[in-house]
Amino acid sequence: MDSRVEPAVRVATPADRDAWLRLRAALWPGDAPGDAEEHAREIDAHLDARGEDARWPQEALLAELDGEVVGLAEVSVRPYAEGCETRDVGYLEGWYVAPGHRRRGVGRALVRAAEAWARARGCAELASDTDPDNDVSRRAHAACGFEDAGLVRCFRRRLDGD
Ligand SMILES: CC(C)(COP(=O)(O)OP(=O)(O)OC[C@H]1O[C@@H](n2cnc3c(N)ncnc32)[C@H](O)[C@@H]1OP(=O)(O)O)[C@@H](O)C(=O)NCCC(=O)NCCS
Repeated sequence: MDSRVEPAVRVATPADRDAWLRLRAALWPGDAPGDAEEHAREIDAHLDARGEDARWPQEALLAELDGEVVGLAEVSVRPYAEGCETRDVGYLEGWYVAPGHRRRGVGRALVRAAEAWARARGCAELASDTDPDNDVSRRAHAACGFEDAGLVRCFRRRLDGD
């Protein structure tokens, strides 16, 4: 039996708050006690502000199958992205499909929707990133047409001490 699916992909609305929160928390569980509340605060702020500005430069795209929200792509426009040749680049900030619905084309459908979203905002490229150890993500990005743009090591330091 062919288990491929064609999910409906749409922009999240206030009615999707809990579904978005569930998928976002599964993608970025975090390790600090307040992480779940932080996700909820960011989603609420986004949904409130979006009502005032239809040109919102960040969006949550949701994939729905038989009335169930099973996938999320958070997209934005970044001024610059590693390896890109143009400015104001579409960016796949987060990409997640619920475990029971993977390998059926939902992730691919979300990337197609992210491409369309970025094109509609004048972007000529779509970029993304993932943890270097996330081999499934690396393969899925490649399968969806992304080229490897190299590895970046990140650093931080506090500025309130010596
Ligand atoms: C990455 C992810 C979103 C892909 O979602 P998906 O719905 O399984 O993707 P698709 O079914 O559209 O797969 C597209 C292609 O990616 C590749 N792929 C996906 N999962 C794979 C796996 N486990 N192993 C090897 N290749 C894989 C395949 O080439 C696949 O095409 P195929 O099934 O025709 O062979 C999903 O695995 C996921 O949510 N992972 C956890 C979160 C994550 O790591 N997100 C990315 C970093 S932000």
